[in-house]
Amino acid sequence: MSKETIAIACDHGGYQLKKELMEELADLGHKILDLGTDSDESVDYPDYGYAVAKALMEGKATKGVLICGSGIGISIAANRYPEIRAALVHDALGAKLSRQHNHANVIVFGGRMIGPDLARDCLRIFLETETEGGRHERRVEKLTNPQ
Ligand code: RB5
Repeated sequence: MSKETIAIACDHGGYQLKKELMEELADLGHKILDLGTDSDESVDYPDYGYAVAKALMEGKATKGVLICGSGIGISIAANRYPEIRAALVHDALGAKLSRQHNHANVIVFGGRMIGPDLARDCLRIFLETETEGGRHERRVEKLTNPQ
């Protein structure tokens, strides 16, 4: 697996899981761009979704990881940018397909929905899996340019 810079952020609902996932990223040898939050104190998830989205769009990281309580709010935030394909993932197959079929560049977890071991597995699979071309390429292009 090639080594990348991975941007990661969470709100208070994702803070505990963010710590686990940062450990996983370090174990895998990736460079980490940690964009907060840094405690369990209540914050607003859109700020963190936008921070990772902007880091990718500015070329500061190649992929992103986002976590909030459910994973839903922070996905909605990140996906407001057409260049961002943030996939809320609950299992290994979803992690793989989010790359192969949807060319996801951000993986999202619900810190209150998934255990740390499964989330680590999903993250590793997401980072290891390449995108597939052909019909998937065409569909992803349509996501970038909504009509
Ligand atoms: C925060 O309590 C919670 O609403 C947030 O983490 C997330 O689940 C929103 O979608």
